[in-house]
Amino acid sequence: MKIDILTLFPKMFEGFLNESIIKRAIEKKIVKINLINFREFSSLNNNQVDDTPYGGGAGMVLMIEPIVKAIESLKTKDSHIILLSPQGKVYNEKKAIKLSNYKHIILICGHYEGFDERIYEFIDEEVSIGDYVLTGGEIPAMVITDSVIRLLDGVINKESIENESFSSSLLDYPTYTKPREFRGLKVPDILLSGDHKKIKEWREQKQKENTFKKRKDLL
Ligand code: ADE
Repeated sequence: MKIDILTLFPKMFEGFLNESIIKRAIEKKIVKINLINFREFSSLNNNQVDDTPYGGGAGMVLMIEPIVKAIESLKTKDSHIILLSPQGKVYNEKKAIKLSNYKHIILICGHYEGFDERIYEFIDEEVSIGDYVLTGGEIPAMVITDSVIRLLDGVINKESIENESFSSSLLDYPTYTKPREFRGLKVPDILLSGDHKKIKEWREQKQKENTFKKRKDLL
């Protein structure tokens, strides 16, 4: 899979791409990630990428030309183009699964400012990571990239994905590790019983209880 990220602040991604699971997925060539600074596609003096809004008003607006030129330099028949904005459809695991099936995703990050409305003619969808406003699309791009990469074959253990929260619309069951007792808090006896059928039933029951207690809206 290839993910191209259009951003004015590529350095924000350094830590994210160079640690742990994401770094390994890149090294194993399961995913290729390119950071494209669309400032380089500006045809104006000082590589200007924003300007004041027509009709007046506060703030600046990202100009359409540099972004569209950047898109056109990357786009193929397999590309799926996503605009990151708090106005988009709210992201969830179901969407992550859908996106993980594309060969090529282009993520467009704004920063501080809004996009020129004509950008909608050049994208496939608009995605928000939640109902709050961030200073830019860079963190949302990392959220989407991370949640998609971990679903790709060979990145993490398949079993972990199948059992985890949201894959069945139920939350996860509780897990414990050593020690058996910590400050009087004990690991449930059933998990130490060695009876795998009973453990499976207990876990299924706990998934339902957990979901009912914490996220009734998922049921
Ligand atoms: N840019 C600023 N806020 C955002 C959000 N919540 N989701 C996606 N992009 C954004």
